[in-house]
Amino acid sequence: MAVQIAEGVYWVGAVDWDLREFHGHSYRTHRGTSYNAYLVVDEKVALVDTVPTGFTDEMLHRIAEVVDPARIDYLVANHGEPDHAGAIPAVLAHAPQAVLVCSRRGIDSLSKYYAGIRQPQVVGSGDSISLGRKTLVFLEAPMLHWPDSMFTYIPENRLLLPNDAFGQHLASAHRFADEVDSSVLWDESRKYFANILTPLSPLVLRKVEEVQKLGLQIEVIAPSHGLIWRKNPMQIVEQYVRWARGEARAQALVVYETMWGSTAELARAIAEGITAADVEVQVYALPQEDLTNVMGALLEARGLVVGSATHNRRTLLHVAALMEDLLALRPVNKIGAAFGSHGWSGGAVPLLEKALREAGIEVVQEGLAVAWWPDAEERAQAVAFGRAFGERVKDSGTGSK
Ligand code: FEO
Repeated sequence: MAVQIAEGVYWVGAVDWDLREFHGHSYRTHRGTSYNAYLVVDEKVALVDTVPTGFTDEMLHRIAEVVDPARIDYLVANHGEPDHAGAIPAVLAHAPQAVLVCSRRGIDSLSKYYAGIRQPQVVGSGDSISLGRKTLVFLEAPMLHWPDSMFTYIPENRLLLPNDAFGQHLASAHRFADEVDSSVLWDESRKYFANILTPLSPLVLRKVEEVQKLGLQIEVIAPSHGLIWRKNPMQIVEQYVRWARGEARAQALVVYETMWGSTAELARAIAEGITAADVEVQVYALPQEDLTNVMGALLEARGLVVGSATHNRRTLLHVAALMEDLLALRPVNKIGAAFGSHGWSGGAVPLLEKALREAGIEVVQEGLAVAWWPDAEERAQAVAFGRAFGERVKDSGTGSK
């Protein structure tokens, strides 16, 4: 069913309950997602964003509940990825007079993904299109999260349509954030920021500052994935600022991959030491836990202790993937340390330390490497290692740097 989200504005998207992987295999969407398209009905009719091709008919049915899709005058593509732009050719086929609207960089991807579609009208920050009583105002948002991204703002509704920003991968029968379990909502919002927006943290801060300077009145924020913020909508913007600044709790994660159990034994001892320092700790074994959850948890933790058994002088593969993810996402304002066990030769611990540094994580103590199996003395060393790390977590504070 189409859902009115503001006077004359309707959600006409689709809910994807089954989706479990996004961006290839890199993002585990544990609770599915939604693709939010918005229909703005005035003297002229605009559709802002669409859905993936597999959901085209569903979206067209929802549009038809409100107006004949042939009446669409403007089709705004805030962003060209196929989860939002997939149905563009179908909409243009239904509405031959519709003007396609995108950012300057939007042409690059739209013209390649959808070869042969009509020439778009290019808009930039401050440009607007009048629909009669309502206006579409555009605000470029490059790298939030790709170069073509832009926001659409409707001042008459005080409604911001920021595409991929401020969303969650969360399938729901509800449309509004205040209608769902808040712990689930925030868990998915955190994972979304951690796995998509973390490397863009400085740009998030700049964009929020720019929006504040523009003095936009915002009563509703309707992202392109997940739930719509209508009660205190600025709460998600304020939370983005805290995440982008790297504000975190006095908490440490111990993330490891073991071969014969000795790295796991060290992980437990290190966690014991962190707890003894009166710091909260979460322990994650790879690959039993997926990286999407680990990155979500890391967003609000100050410290990361990472461990791997040495195999062929290298780290184990799932830890290698974790380090690659850290390098790509570059979590803000974290401290770290490395540990691991080895047999005939070591090698993993220095590699982990190097990778932590490359990811911008400050390595605050010398790594702990143990041969074969930790004896009583080495186990005590691991507890002390954890305790020292816990003290560093406390000392490093929980606010932003
Ligand atoms: Fe960047 Fe939701 O696509």
